Amino acid sequence: MSDGNGADVNKNGERLVPVQIMGRLYEVPETLTIMKAVEYAGHRYVRGCGCRGGICGACGTFYRLPGDYQLLSGLACQTVVQPGMMIMQLPYVPANRPDYDLDALNGDGAAVSPTSLHESVRRLFPEVYRCVGCATCTKTCPMGIDVMDYVALIGRGELAKAAEVSFSCVMCGLCAIRCPAQISQHTAAMYVRRLAGRYLTPRAGHLQERVAQVRAGKYDAQLAQLKAMGRDELKSLYAGREREPDMSEPGEWKPKDTVWL
Ligand code: SF4
Ligand code: SF4
Ligand code: FES
Repeated sequence: MSDGNGADVNKNGERLVPVQIMGRLYEVPETLTIMKAVEYAGHRYVRGCGCRGGICGACGTFYRLPGDYQLLSGLACQTVVQPGMMIMQLPYVPANRPDYDLDALNGDGAAVSPTSLHESVRRLFPEVYRCVGCATCTKTCPMGIDVMDYVALIGRGELAKAAEVSFSCVMCGLCAIRCPAQISQHTAAMYVRRLAGRYLTPRAGHLQERVAQVRAGKYDAQLAQLKAMGRDELKSLYAGREREPDMSEPGEWKPKDTVWL
């Protein structure tokens, strides 16, 4: 069916564009994301779909556009289709995921030093030193992260900085798929962020206090009470809860009932 201007539309009046999904041609509404277009075309996700909000990294996708030599990349749940797009979504990216135990790094009682942390990265991810500086990973990253930079920082042992630069990584693995040096940048960076959280970042006093309260059972009775409630009772408790005003500054607001603080 076509609209008054000769454009193809569906029964809801939405303009359609042609796309190829894994080599097969479909017409899909022009406003859809790749993920919704795949579903519109009749496929059902059993892999390669998680949060639908650009957070989980499950929907890494490569595509080409007509007349453009470049292999482009994006997250299927965030990238809107374009006419003639040729789409290939990855259901899974195999990566180097070595086993490690963060607590065992100083299991012998020895103090963990920046050198020993760097040494552990070298042992677990030696391939990081094979980077040839091609920047393909940086050009591929759908989160706009300078992946080559954090790989170089890991190589130099600047782990806190590498953790910061890689912080927005959603673990889609698209960088690793394209790396000519076969580095799993994202899993190496995940390890480095864990090291940074465990050994390089100052502990938040209020969080330690709360964890101790949880471990001491302060909330056990309240949790048992909540678990015994039915769905409707829980809904009404949630809807009627006291809320922090949207614009309050830290420390400005406290709930009336402070018994659980
Ligand atoms: S794609 Fe691989 S080799 Fe190229 S800069 Fe990134 S990590 Fe280095
Ligand atoms: S760094 Fe790699 S795994 Fe992380 S978001 Fe970018 S492309 Fe995806
Ligand atoms: S489904 Fe989670 S990032 Fe796309």
